[in-house]
Amino acid sequence: MKVLVIAGARPNFMKVAPILRKLEESGEDGILLHTGQHYDFQMSAGFFEQLGIPDPDYHLGIGSGSHADQTARIMQAFEPVLVESRPDWLVLVGDVNSTLACSLVAAKLKTDLGCRIAHVEAGLRSRDWAMPEEVNRVLTDRLSDLLLTTSPEAADNLEAEGIAPDRVVFAGNVMIDTLMRELPRAREQDTLARLGLSPGGYAVVTLHRPSNVDVREQLSGILEGLARVADDMPVVLPLHPRTRERVAAFGLGALLERMVITEPLGYHDMLALMDSAKGVFTDSGGVQEETTVLGVPCVTLREATERPITVSEGTNRMVEWPPTSHRIASAYADMLERPRLGVGVASPDGWDGRAAERIVAALRR
Ligand code: UD1
Repeated sequence: MKVLVIAGARPNFMKVAPILRKLEESGEDGILLHTGQHYDFQMSAGFFEQLGIPDPDYHLGIGSGSHADQTARIMQAFEPVLVESRPDWLVLVGDVNSTLACSLVAAKLKTDLGCRIAHVEAGLRSRDWAMPEEVNRVLTDRLSDLLLTTSPEAADNLEAEGIAPDRVVFAGNVMIDTLMRELPRAREQDTLARLGLSPGGYAVVTLHRPSNVDVREQLSGILEGLARVADDMPVVLPLHPRTRERVAAFGLGALLERMVITEPLGYHDMLALMDSAKGVFTDSGGVQEETTVLGVPCVTLREATERPITVSEGTNRMVEWPPTSHRIASAYADMLERPRLGVGVASPDGWDGRAAERIVAALRR
């Protein structure tokens, strides 16, 4: 069985790593294509090194651009690769532009090539169509032959959209395979000492959604709230390139002065920071899941989450919307009352380190 696995942006790398490893262990022919949507060392190559991901068999070198430009260039560059490599399966993870671009190409060539499409992390829905990821998820699911889900409500969402249940397979959460494998190494890092932090005595923030960082008023309200938190305990904010650009463009740099600002962090440093934090503020999808498994209180800086199981079973709470400085301060007061639960205590079913095994078994079936 020949399986072409696609990765393009930072949140994809921790998902493809266990799938590629399991394909290899099972004697299957796994090949990797990197679209190059993310390209800085800290956003891309660093993760390949840290997670032991093999060099990509194909690298499209696409880089940044508008949604249309980026998506179109991935499609154009991917088509000849798909025709040449003729895999039995195309495996797509998550909801970035690379995911949608490659699924569109494969769907149009299906009759010619017979390549089927599997979507890992299918069925998540925020119902917020202003999010580029919502468009990418819904369309990729519609084009996929095999929909691999992380939680029960994903299957309900797919059924409500008319997708035949026999195409949907519960696989669990493959990103947690990576977390469980790498946690011992993360705990050996000197991350906290380097940043002058003590366990349980600081908060971590990730912030990069266009809806939060591309609108001045929204970004300044969030940063003012986080600066208030920083008056009480250290706040660590690894700055995503998009956020760095926006903070500079809006002249909001002074609000960062009270926080511990770093470059985007590597996988083990970030995991170590989350693992020992008092709590985490985030607008990322993956961080909501990782904090749930780590048992660390999380506040999500979004209007809706496509990962409601992290709220109903996990450690996640939604900030009151829109996130003013005052609302962030009260979410922080609430965070201080919440215990850190320890690893696995709040983990949903199938977030157990064995999702890649179930994914490869489903592809074989
Ligand atoms: C993308 C994904 C988002 C994911 C995020 C994680 C889409 C639509 N969005 O958003 O779902 O949560 O990745 O990071 O696919 N840049 C660099 N270096 C890089 C990559 C980007 O400097 O290696 C800068 C560029 O200025 C670029 C901007 O960041 O224009 C945004 O990058 P882009 O890939 O368009 O989207 P993200 O915001 O990273």
